[in-house]
Amino acid sequence: RPMLPAVLNACDAARDAALERLFTFLRIPSISTDPAYAGEVKRCAEHIAADLAAIGLDVAVYPTEGHPMVVAKSRESHASGPHVLFYGHYDVQPVDPLDLWETDPFDPRIVERRDGTAKIVARGSSDDKGQVMTFVEACRAWIEATGKLPVPVTILLEGEEESGSPSLDGFFKAHGDVIAADFALVCDTSQWDAETPAIATTLRGLVGEEVTITCADKDLHSGSFGGAARNPIQLLAKILASLHDDDGRVTLPGFYDGVPEISDALRAMWDGLDFSESDFLGEVGLSIPAGETGRSVLEKIWARPTCEVNGITGGYTGKGFKTVLPSKASAKVSFRLVGTQDPLAIRKAFRAHVEAMLPADCKVEFHEHGASPATVLDVSGEGVSKARQALEEEWGRPAVLVGMGGSIPIVGAFKRRFGLDSVMVGYALDNDQIHSPNEKYELASFIKGTRSWARILGAYGNLS
Ligand code: BES
Ligand code: ZN
Repeated sequence: RPMLPAVLNACDAARDAALERLFTFLRIPSISTDPAYAGEVKRCAEHIAADLAAIGLDVAVYPTEGHPMVVAKSRESHASGPHVLFYGHYDVQPVDPLDLWETDPFDPRIVERRDGTAKIVARGSSDDKGQVMTFVEACRAWIEATGKLPVPVTILLEGEEESGSPSLDGFFKAHGDVIAADFALVCDTSQWDAETPAIATTLRGLVGEEVTITCADKDLHSGSFGGAARNPIQLLAKILASLHDDDGRVTLPGFYDGVPEISDALRAMWDGLDFSESDFLGEVGLSIPAGETGRSVLEKIWARPTCEVNGITGGYTGKGFKTVLPSKASAKVSFRLVGTQDPLAIRKAFRAHVEAMLPADCKVEFHEHGASPATVLDVSGEGVSKARQALEEEWGRPAVLVGMGGSIPIVGAFKRRFGLDSVMVGYALDNDQIHSPNEKYELASFIKGTRSWARILGAYGNLS
């Protein structure tokens, strides 16, 4: 007896209630990187744990050195395998600059457009709470319509993905056995476009560094001391500018060790995608590609390593003007990695480079913010082939295989530590403004994402 039609109906019938549940999740400001929000992150873990328990899963919240991990397990399933591990994150990025938000980032709302489409606006709507809920709602619909899940499911929700996943190792050491599965499903990436689903084949790695330079031991009058005392902002700017050459290449010695050229087959596949560089940049108000000369935009974001300055502070940045010669300046710098680039070697090379440019009477302090290597996924398994087929049934067109410029540290850790492969299916769009003001998630992504997972889970259990 077919089950899937009833499950898809249950997904559709639950739409308003599902949105209400997503909104409750979105109202909790679970900003993992800012210690001031630690209580909210914990509250968010407890909230989502309770929601998972309400659909009949066995739930545990594991404390870590940082924010908690939430693990939920199915009790029963129609088929005995494969056992899938779903991963998502319940933490979100900081909201600043707050004044650029049109509405309160933690007061989610639906904005309907003239053309009949609608978006959900809130911090975390796309990255990653909305995406997490597509899977949770698909599970809920299976249980509601058929009494159980198609296959055994474990759900793992992390609370510090957005701050570099510092507690993964400790959690895996202490509780690695609770996430045993045949393969992982990860919902934290984008579609190809609004009509075309995608499965990600690569993620870049990331090294995060914060550097603080101190020159004079106190702030000074820039008239009394300027010209004689060194300015840390100017020194820092010079150091940061020296990280790239005129061809957009990173200058750190050994930086390109382990960076492969993409294969002809991959190049042909990417050339076959209908991608317009000018539209991609045009969407964000730009027209001149930056970065390495002689590389395509897709290659730059999917297959090349980068160095970006994510933040810089120092001196007087308040209203008006202040003639100060500051004592300190600092910057947050991240490197995106590909191939087999070694995060620790890159951190070391960066620190050595800064130290070499530092005058003997100045000081530097470094603070690390995560390190994860790049990941290439195996897309030859049944996890991917069945997901592709199910996606095609929902979307009416084939899913494309794409690279991803972003990073999700746990995906590489799953493989290195447990030999666990991941199937990465996400329903975000490039214009969702993740990490940016006015983040949104398309209502259609939420609805079709839920239906897609319902189909994918059915496919794994050979249930139609
Ligand atoms: N959802 C993103 C990852 C992502 C971004 C995938 C864009 C595909 C396209 C994730 O939440 C994220 O932002 N990760 C961080 C990880 C970092 C802090 C280690 C990232 O990529 O900056
Ligand atoms: Zn993110």
